[in-house]
This record gives sequence, structure tokens and C-alpha cells, in this order.
Amino acid sequence: MTRILVTGSAGQISTELIPALAERGYEIIATDIRPPPEDELEFAEFQILDVTDSQKVDSLIGKFSVDAIIHNASILSAKGEQDPLLALNVNFRGLENVLLAAKKHRVKKVLIPSSIAAFGPQTPKDHTPNDTIMRPTTIYGISKVYVELLGEYFHSKYGLDFRSLRYPGVISAKTKPGGGTTDWAVEIFYEGIETGSYTCFVKKDTIMPMMAMPDCINATIQLFEAPEENLIHRSFNVAGVSFTPEMLETELKRHIPDLQVEYKPDFRQLIADSWPRSIDDSVAREEWGWKHEYDLPKLVDYMFSDLSMKLKSKV
Ligand code: SER
Repeated sequence: MTRILVTGSAGQISTELIPALAERGYEIIATDIRPPPEDELEFAEFQILDVTDSQKVDSLIGKFSVDAIIHNASILSAKGEQDPLLALNVNFRGLENVLLAAKKHRVKKVLIPSSIAAFGPQTPKDHTPNDTIMRPTTIYGISKVYVELLGEYFHSKYGLDFRSLRYPGVISAKTKPGGGTTDWAVEIFYEGIETGSYTCFVKKDTIMPMMAMPDCINATIQLFEAPEENLIHRSFNVAGVSFTPEMLETELKRHIPDLQVEYKPDFRQLIADSWPRSIDDSVAREEWGWKHEYDLPKLVDYMFSDLSMKLKSKV
């Protein structure tokens, strides 16, 4: 039995990752600044934790003698641009607190997500390679480069088994993402099903890398469990499918034929334009066998049916 402490447990990814990990036999200590959704309590022991509180991070990791940490707590890109000091505190100080406590308490493995936001305007935009120029222009992106570099430093200096994967926009129905630049690809489903119309905050031809949640969960668990001797890299691109709002609109019209979409780009357009259009994930494929399963039609069918069910059960 491996005991894993997860931060940001009430967030979009953790709320689906925790049940998947529990199903595989891991014991989970779920932590967040707010209590978890009711159904998460079945799968994990919950503790309140603000990752900027270094003493509490240290004491919880020590108290539960955890074998591994999955550090998901983070301020996303759009929210980070609205409150850069909050992002500095949560993303940078939180990372340092987690890595220092992991070292002190001899935690064996630490997985911390990175993002396509770690790339910037000078990065090659198409089939962005795993190892390339990383000069992001958002505070969130800078914090993700810091995750990769500091994590890799703790690996080479102290032998910590650090792993990271660069998520694209993640599409899911269970928990909404909080303040990202890829959120349009989730919002269009909510608004489309509930009101029949959606106003999109990026231009209709903005192509962005995305991934369905089942692929995101598989990627995370596959990297977490990959034999260490197979890993040459520590930070990995993972691709799903790239699409524009217009392509998504067309696909979604199979389910909602009268869907009306308007395009009113705001400050998030600039962020989107600084990121890759598509991702080359051949390194992840070679080192730990990554392969996505959801193309755009499959992603739309999955999201539409999951969300329709969720929204119906609320009525
Ligand atoms: N979905 C994230 C964001 O838009 C990217 O990692 O901020």
C-alpha cells in the first residue's frame, strides 16, 4: 500500500484523480483549503491545508508518513494574471514548501503537474518538442517552469523521484476548472446545454491543445507508476487533441443543433496566443508508453453525455 498526499484535492483534476487512485489500491490523504465534495470522502482521509503554510505542509507530511505526494494546488493562468501576487504565493511558495517537506521526511516520489503554459511566444508553436525554448509570459507559466527546474534540481541534488507532465486544457464534467485560459472548451458545454448559447472569450480560430479527463487521469497514473529506470526525462509533454472553438462548436452541434456561439475575445486571447498550437509527445510515448485515446468527436460525446447526466440529476 502506498500512501499519497494530494494537494488541491477539491480542484478539477484531483476530484477525478483521487477516486481513480483509490480504486488502484492507493491510500489517499486529500488536502485543500476548502472541504471536499461529499463523495470524495469515501475515497480519502481529508485534511485542511493551505500550501503556503510551510509549518502545516511539513507537519501533515510528517504526521501521515506519506510515501508520495501529488501536488496539484495551483492558481491557473487567467486568475494568475488578475492576481499575480496570489499566484506568486500559492504557486512558488507552495512548491518550495512541498519539496522541502518531501526532502525532510524522505518522501519517495513527488509528482507535480506542469502545463503547456510553461511555453511562451518564442517556443515553436506546432508539434512543440519536449525539450525546447521555455520563456513563458504569464506568472502561471513562469511558476510551471519553476516546478520543472526546482523538481529536477531536487532529483539530481537529493535523489527525490520527481516527475512532471505538461497538461494541455483538460475537459471534464465533474468539477469546473478555476480560472484557466482553456476554460472556454468546458464552458461551451455548460452554457450550450443550459442556455443554448455561449459567448467565447477567444477568437474562433484559436487552436489550442486539449485533452479529455480520462486521458489526463491515465497519463498521470501511467507516469506516476512508470519504472524509474525507464525515465530519461523528468518533465514530459502529453498531447491529446488540438482544436479551435469553431471546430468544437461544429462538433457540439451534432448534439445541440441550434447552438449559438458568439466570439468576444478578452485579455485571455493574448495568453492563448503565447502558447503552443499542438504538442509533440513522442518522448512520453517512448519513455513510459503514453498514448491518448480521445479524439475530438469522442471527447465531445463523452463530455456531452457526462454533463447532461450531471445537470439532469441536479434538477
Ligand atoms: N488549463 C490551464 C490554463 O488554462 C493550462 O494549464 O491555465
